[in-house]
Amino acid sequence: MNTLKQHIEKKFSRAADSYNGVAKVQKIAIDMTLEVLDQHDLTVRRVLDLGSGTGLARPQLMRRFGSEAYYALDLSHAMLRYSQQQDASKVNAICADIEHLPIMNEAISVMFSTSTLQWCKNLSTLLLDLKRAITPDGLFVFSTFGPNTLIELRHAFAQVDSGQHVQSFPSQQALSSALQEAGFRRICLQSSDCVIQYSHPLQLLRDIKAAGANYHSGGAVGCYGKAKFARMLGYYPCSDDNPEIFPATYEVIYGCARP
Ligand SMILES: C[S@@+](CC[C@H](N)C(=O)[O-])C[C@H]1O[C@@H](n2cnc3c(N)ncnc32)[C@H](O)[C@@H]1O
Repeated sequence: MNTLKQHIEKKFSRAADSYNGVAKVQKIAIDMTLEVLDQHDLTVRRVLDLGSGTGLARPQLMRRFGSEAYYALDLSHAMLRYSQQQDASKVNAICADIEHLPIMNEAISVMFSTSTLQWCKNLSTLLLDLKRAITPDGLFVFSTFGPNTLIELRHAFAQVDSGQHVQSFPSQQALSSALQEAGFRRICLQSSDCVIQYSHPLQLLRDIKAAGANYHSGGAVGCYGKAKFARMLGYYPCSDDNPEIFPATYEVIYGCARP
């Protein structure tokens, strides 16, 4: 595993116990993705939950397709362990990197992924590999985040310096092109802004960390001085109609594609 992946794995492993308590937008994204899935009539032998985390989507996927058909895959062993502890029944679990899928050709009927694709280094290569592993009549159904995500936080940091402190997210257009280039067809994407309200921007930063989603560039960890950090917080915009509310926008991009 390279250093960046090790870092991602460590952040999510540390967040395994706190994730469910702060994963507000991720739970909304799961519901949106399941709604897309519900629009399809599928014959399913295996469903692979890519970046399954604590297993929030698992009960519904198991209910729909049966527990035998469900496979959880995650980079973080701690996430998989947490997920396993929530359920008395045995879960098929694979500890692996979705960018190096240990899956045979045309083995998976439904590739399901929520709030995970944005952690991948090379989306084009990943999509090509996913297409390889899906059955010809299968479905890739997913949600991820778009460029409007955390726009308020990005704005606040940009007032203080020109460094990157918030993760970048691909646009719906970029995702659609990458899916087409990988050979997917019948691509259907939608996006929806979800706004979570905070009583202080620090609470947002704490939630991001507790979800394991704090940004790391992959380089050396820089020292962000206290004064600079306080200035950044001062630039965080409050709600138009309430100065004590601090909104955090998440652009959820969700949809599906056929191999
Ligand atoms: C934000 S959580 C989403 C978890 C779950 N899908 C949900 O919606 O609640 C992202 C998950 O993706 C996993 N992850 C990140 N990069 C990964 C990779 N390259 N391969 C496999 N899993 C990865 C993390 O360990 C984490 O559990």
